[in-house]
Amino acid sequence: MQKRMLSGMQPTGILHLGNLEGALRNWVRLQEEYDSYFCIVDWHSLTTLAETPELIKKQTLDVAIDWLAAGLNPEKCTVFIQSHVPQHAELHLLLSMITPVPWLERVPTYKEKKENLNIESASYGLLGYPVLQAADIMIYKADVVPVGKDQLPHLELTREITRRFNHLYGEVFPECEALLTEAAVVPGTDGRKMSKSYDNAIYIQDSAEETAKKIKTMFTDPLKLRMGDPGRPEVCPVFALHEIYSPKDQVAWIDEHCRAGDLGCVQCKKMLTENLNEKLRPLRERRQMYADDPAQIEKILEEGAAKAREVAEETMREVRKAMMLP
Ligand code: TRP
Repeated sequence: MQKRMLSGMQPTGILHLGNLEGALRNWVRLQEEYDSYFCIVDWHSLTTLAETPELIKKQTLDVAIDWLAAGLNPEKCTVFIQSHVPQHAELHLLLSMITPVPWLERVPTYKEKKENLNIESASYGLLGYPVLQAADIMIYKADVVPVGKDQLPHLELTREITRRFNHLYGEVFPECEALLTEAAVVPGTDGRKMSKSYDNAIYIQDSAEETAKKIKTMFTDPLKLRMGDPGRPEVCPVFALHEIYSPKDQVAWIDEHCRAGDLGCVQCKKMLTENLNEKLRPLRERRQMYADDPAQIEKILEEGAAKAREVAEETMREVRKAMMLP
């Protein structure tokens, strides 16, 4: 039997190259190997965006379209929205009864969010964020969870909750394992990490022209001021993108000629634009196809949710029995 995998992403809206290289490419590969579940966690977004539910709704759809554009294939994996599977909420409630508050208060993402969001008093829901994540994972009895480093504390907590549950009520759940994604950090146009909030991102849905424009404005080696100056590829965000999107021999050629000073930034950026647009073309075409056919996306998400509910309900039957609930 195939091992089961689950991962989730908050509906942060249209996805950029950082999301693509950091998570999606890996997921597209993994869907071939595992019985895969991919969940858009809209309830998790309510922990910080409870006042703008319409935003979450819109962004959920944007993420779904980009997932499919990136190559998640509904014939091979189950794509669904968390709130379409109410069993997650039921398991979250039950797990919350066996999760000590100090376990949650020491989670780094909680401490960070509390400070960054400048909220006087964090909500009960925000504190419980990792318990809901544990429910997402456990309800499918997932064996592996592909995530970035920042999520490791959440997975450790999931394992602790799993052990505690099994100890109290009997062996219902497997202990999941993190599948750490070793992805290159994708720099944005200003050289900082690509992020929606820095306004430095190139999006899957950008047109080829928009992409060209953004690359033209990209930061390069600040010491390479004009054509003849030698450059330092290792500090240049344009070069970092070449390393991801350009053929190896071209990357070597650019490295050599940039250092020698006989390759100018304008030409180097043109080469990147061509390569990147070529790589993104099939994704963008797929994106357009789905964006033009909302009924089809709805159908995919509905079928995904139906399949997820079936598995989740089966687990909940075991959980209720183990906890002597009707
Ligand atoms: N906390 C994750 C993130 O911010 C999102 C998430 C929610 C998740 N539930 C999950 C990831 C379950 C993996 C498995 O990226």
